[in-house]
Amino acid sequence: MGLSRKEQVFMALLGASGVAGLTALILFLVEAASVLRPTDIKFGIVFDAGSSHTSLFLYQWPADKENGTGVVSQALACQVEGPGISSYASDPAQAGESLQGCLEEALVLIPEAQRRKTPTFLGATAGMRLLRQKNSSQARDIFAAVTQALGRSPVDFWGAELLAGQDEGAFGWITVNYGLGTLVKYSFTGEWIRPPEEMLVGALDLGGASTQITFVPGGPILDKSTQADFRLYGSDYSVYTHSYLCFGRDQMLSRLLTGLVQAFSNFYYTFHFLNLTSGQPLSTANATIWEFCQRSWKLVEASYPGQDRWLRDYCASGLYILTLLRDGYGFSEETWPSIQFRKQASGVDIGWTLGYMLNLTGMIPAEEPAQWWAQSHSVWVATVVFLVLTLVAVLGAAAVQLFWVQD
Ligand SMILES: *[C@@H]1O[C@H](CO)[C@@H](O)[C@H](O)[C@H]1NC(C)=O
Ligand SMILES: *[C@@H]1O[C@H](CO)[C@@H](O)[C@H](O)[C@H]1NC(C)=O
Ligand SMILES: *[C@@H]1O[C@H](CO)[C@@H](O)[C@H](O)[C@H]1NC(C)=O
Ligand SMILES: *[C@@H]1O[C@H](CO)[C@@H](O)[C@H](O)[C@H]1NC(C)=O
Repeated sequence: MGLSRKEQVFMALLGASGVAGLTALILFLVEAASVLRPTDIKFGIVFDAGSSHTSLFLYQWPADKENGTGVVSQALACQVEGPGISSYASDPAQAGESLQGCLEEALVLIPEAQRRKTPTFLGATAGMRLLRQKNSSQARDIFAAVTQALGRSPVDFWGAELLAGQDEGAFGWITVNYGLGTLVKYSFTGEWIRPPEEMLVGALDLGGASTQITFVPGGPILDKSTQADFRLYGSDYSVYTHSYLCFGRDQMLSRLLTGLVQAFSNFYYTFHFLNLTSGQPLSTANATIWEFCQRSWKLVEASYPGQDRWLRDYCASGLYILTLLRDGYGFSEETWPSIQFRKQASGVDIGWTLGYMLNLTGMIPAEEPAQWWAQSHSVWVATVVFLVLTLVAVLGAAAVQLFWVQD
């Protein structure tokens, strides 16, 4: 016996509701799986208030973090107009004002809703260390002025502080090793791995008025004042770090350096200018620097038109670097090739700021990754249409069952 008309229509409507319902479910699941909302991005700002100038660095990282330390990249580096904040002793308010231009540049890159949540720090180094030695009340006034200026801006300002030379060295070491992927590295298999400790590199930094050396020593550190301990990515590090303030110890050196450090003075820039950043031997570096220094000023000026601003400093700073590395730190012809002169590692400027930020992001609470079902509009419309079809078919089937009078 075949099905009656009523049973045939009922079965057809039931089948249609099943197909439409299943389609809606599949659309929902497929879309939800492929369009997981990307992780929120967080931002942080660090002002590096150096002796000759101030720089702003804007960093960003995903809100969900790896073992308590953010995966941070550099979104902006901005050079503040004018001299370092320690030069504003006679007009401290101007020190605060000078930071506004770069801060505005950074704010453009931060979504409005994130700005108030963006931790902002100012760290001052050797220039302010020297000013504090000379006249501590002037240094205090400058800190008060920059704190007031940044406190008024639409960010989460955490404070301005004077970094100890040791911190500067340790944070520089963290920056370099983070950038080179020797602290933690994203592997081909998509996991975070910790490379062996032998891969860690030391860091040498020549700032405007101080120089730092930081490395993991082969043996125990006897002088505890040169030891810095910290924990990153769930593991403990103990480094030797020493900072030398260039001024103050020796008036002769001080007078020589006063000219040297105005606005620039840095291992990388000097050696880059002298074409010595591609692993040349010590003898080549020595010969190149002496050859450059012995050229007549007329010849030098003619060879590098338009570069006169720094040109007069390259000879002195080249000789200073050579002396510092060879006679100061004891690098020899054999160990010299292990020095790499670099400005950046993985798109991040080498300096203490990223390490400082990395350390501080450990204090910013990690949020749950956002897992909204963020369907795209067309798929959402199709899902709703199939849901409505399902409903219509189900209601139709019910109506057939209830109201269709059997033939
Ligand atoms: C420090 O600076 C303040 C203000 O510029 C000045 O009044 C004071 O005499 C200075 N102190 C010293 C020890 O130079
Ligand atoms: C993160 O922590 C876990 C557990 O403490 C550890 O097994 C893993 O190696 C750590 N990852 C890194 C990259 O240090
Ligand atoms: C560095 O090399 C460039 C070309 O590669 C050359 O023009 C320049 O003169 C060199 N600089 C020095 C200081 O020798
Ligand atoms: C990083 O911050 C912690 C406090 O959160 C501190 O104990 C530690 O010494 C800092 N690391 C360095 C290298 O200063």
